[in-house]
Amino acid sequence: MSALVLAKPAELVAAAESIRAGGARVGVVPTMGALHEGHLALIREAKRRADAVIVTVFVNPTQFGPSEDFEAYPRDLARDVALATSAGATHVFAPRREDMYPHPDVTRVTVAGPSEGLCGRSRPGHFTGVATVVLKLFSLVGPSVAVFGRKDFQQLRVIETMVRELFLPVEIVGFPIVRETDGLALSSRNAYLSSDDRARALAIPRALAATAGAFARGEREVTVLVEMVRGALDRAGLRVDYVSLADASSLAEFDGGSVGETALLAVAAFAGRTRLIDNLVLGEDPAPEVPRGAAE
Ligand code: PAJ
Repeated sequence: MSALVLAKPAELVAAAESIRAGGARVGVVPTMGALHEGHLALIREAKRRADAVIVTVFVNPTQFGPSEDFEAYPRDLARDVALATSAGATHVFAPRREDMYPHPDVTRVTVAGPSEGLCGRSRPGHFTGVATVVLKLFSLVGPSVAVFGRKDFQQLRVIETMVRELFLPVEIVGFPIVRETDGLALSSRNAYLSSDDRARALAIPRALAATAGAFARGEREVTVLVEMVRGALDRAGLRVDYVSLADASSLAEFDGGSVGETALLAVAAFAGRTRLIDNLVLGEDPAPEVPRGAAE
């Protein structure tokens, strides 16, 4: 049976209340749609942890910058509902913009610390948009658990910080990055890539894997580790937005010196006009598997 599709916030509140009234646990997986295997893995994880799973599909305008791809972002609700259902979603919430941001619209949630570096520098206001819409979704649903991908590692830390500081009664689960067989992290934006750019983009997981190897052999010098990635991306013809090492919990970035036993290695780079992100927690995550044929 297809997941129940809801469009109005009041319908979502009523649906979530009736699930909770029966004593069942509600899980939520916030998405912007254009669902792929990465999203579906999150939905399956939510299903393992909750009785009912609400997938939200909303291309959130407040997290896009003026020159970003809000208008062009892929939208196909019927396909998303079918895929979400196949992964175990019981409800899909797909609101309209004016229902999520009714007038007046003057409230924003800013999580300063973890929003500031990395993507926060090149996408000012982005994480305020994310935190605001996620808090709205949590308020409507009252979930016991919410699942987010470690693909957007900084986003995960922003949400965890908001939940902790605002005492929100929801468990946040961070799910590992789901990759294509050639190593590229799944992303709705991969659909924008030309075949040449798609091939160039493979330099990202390849560079992360090579750097994880160097780290495993004992390399701890920040400039050496960062340069390994930056050099590889430059040589592949990708335009680097940033390559950074940061404390994996505070996201404070290293500026030289050496890292300890774990560190977040985070990358954002453009393949053509498409901005791609990827990351790896050195000393914690397994290195992405990049088959040899795909790697050269
Ligand atoms: P979106 O980019 O659609 O991603 C929805 C969720 O899927 C996020 O938690 C993201 O980290 C996760 N995800 C995406 N690709 C993944 C992959 N390859 N492996 C594992 N998880 C992956 O992130 C957003 O939407 C929005 O910012 C949102 C949180 C919905 C707020 O608008």
